[in-house]
Amino acid sequence: MSYVVTIDGPAGAGKSSVARRVAHELGIKYLDTGAIYRAIALILARSEIEPGSDEFLREALKDIKIELKENSVLVNDFDVSGEIRTPEVDVLASVYSAVPAVREALLGLQKAQKNYGSIIAEGRDVGSVVFPDAKVKFFLTASPEARAKRRCLERVSKGQDANYDEILNSIKQRDINDSTRKLAPLSVPDGAIYLDTSDMTEDEVIKFIIDSVNEALSK
Ligand code: DC
Repeated sequence: MSYVVTIDGPAGAGKSSVARRVAHELGIKYLDTGAIYRAIALILARSEIEPGSDEFLREALKDIKIELKENSVLVNDFDVSGEIRTPEVDVLASVYSAVPAVREALLGLQKAQKNYGSIIAEGRDVGSVVFPDAKVKFFLTASPEARAKRRCLERVSKGQDANYDEILNSIKQRDINDSTRKLAPLSVPDGAIYLDTSDMTEDEVIKFIIDSVNEALSK
């Protein structure tokens, strides 16, 4: 029987790397919903379609085809996986993901992913809106400072520039955007296990999640 696990939480809480590793350990698929929002934001911004232009936006969204592969995101057959991981796209994704037409257009694509087997989905509303019936739901968070520190280390490890203060400000701004928007704001989904990871190692978080999933599956 296939099942769905969800992880919601703010930017930089470590959801992506945790979800990716849990998926590997459990032998299930990993769904990075943020990557989908990033891809659509990049394409809309490049096409100079403003987030406020509802009519243009709805038209444009009809012509955008998004495909999810194992380790990449394709928009109209172009691989944008590298381009969506920049500070500019951090901001664009946060802005465009607050637009109702964008969220509506991407909901079906996300829901459909469970038709291909068990998944662990990660995002801001996966436990509340996309998969409200998930087998196990988690809400992962950490202090803004702990999250900024992790983002810095991640950027440095990839050879990218990293300024702690800038990253911290951007995280705080995105927290405000993501949790105050009208539609599907970041919130702890009903029934989710709340985990503050500020003082936990990634291995500890992963072990906790896997143990909780195995326990839920054994019932
Ligand atoms: O997780 P991330 O940083 O890659 O997400 C990029 C943006 O997309 C983030 O600002 C919030 C938005 N997002 C969302 O609104 N809903 C989701 N399920 C996932 C991401």
